Amino acid sequence: MSDKIESLIEGNKLWVKNILKHTPGFFDELSEAQKPQFLWIGCSDSRVPATEITNALPGSIFVQRNIANMVVHTDANLLSVVYYAVKVLKVKHIIVCGHYGCGGVHAAMGNEDYGFLNNWLLHIKDVYRMHEKELDAIKDETRRFDRFVELNVQEQVHDLMKVSFIQEEWRNGEFPHIHGWVYSLKDGLIKDLKVSTNSSKQLGKVYKYD
Ligand code: CO
Repeated sequence: MSDKIESLIEGNKLWVKNILKHTPGFFDELSEAQKPQFLWIGCSDSRVPATEITNALPGSIFVQRNIANMVVHTDANLLSVVYYAVKVLKVKHIIVCGHYGCGGVHAAMGNEDYGFLNNWLLHIKDVYRMHEKELDAIKDETRRFDRFVELNVQEQVHDLMKVSFIQEEWRNGEFPHIHGWVYSLKDGLIKDLKVSTNSSKQLGKVYKYD
């Protein structure tokens, strides 16, 4: 892989050429407006780019990424993205996509001091505490790590359900649907965790808004 900054600009020119070869007028339409139907909350990991791994084109997925695909309710950046996606773009689906081998999740399983990063990792450590019994019972470390990645995605789906303006959308209609997926770096395939939801039914009563 090139470490030359120029390679990105050159790559961009090549990309435009390829796109226009297959779809003349591609940018004319897309520059007018975006109407994505999906919001993607994924990991910042360079190996898990939303549009590439889903074979989707620019314009189809609104994206928010951070370390270990977390939904943190004091994260104004994330909440602004979710608000815009849900209330303005009216996306039909929100996908939380984690990935096996996630460095953030792995760091949260251990006891190493990561300095400033510890504060972010605490949110992931909280997920471990919630599922400590199940996770500690898995003796094989790789399997425990894989399961922790899955449970972390599941908890972020749950955290999205707690968001008041998402609940407001559900009171008025059926969307957005929230999904939990995990991507495998080893074979490039996405696993659906089958935790999809579009209601606040499974939430504890203190989280539900009138
Ligand atoms: Co990651």
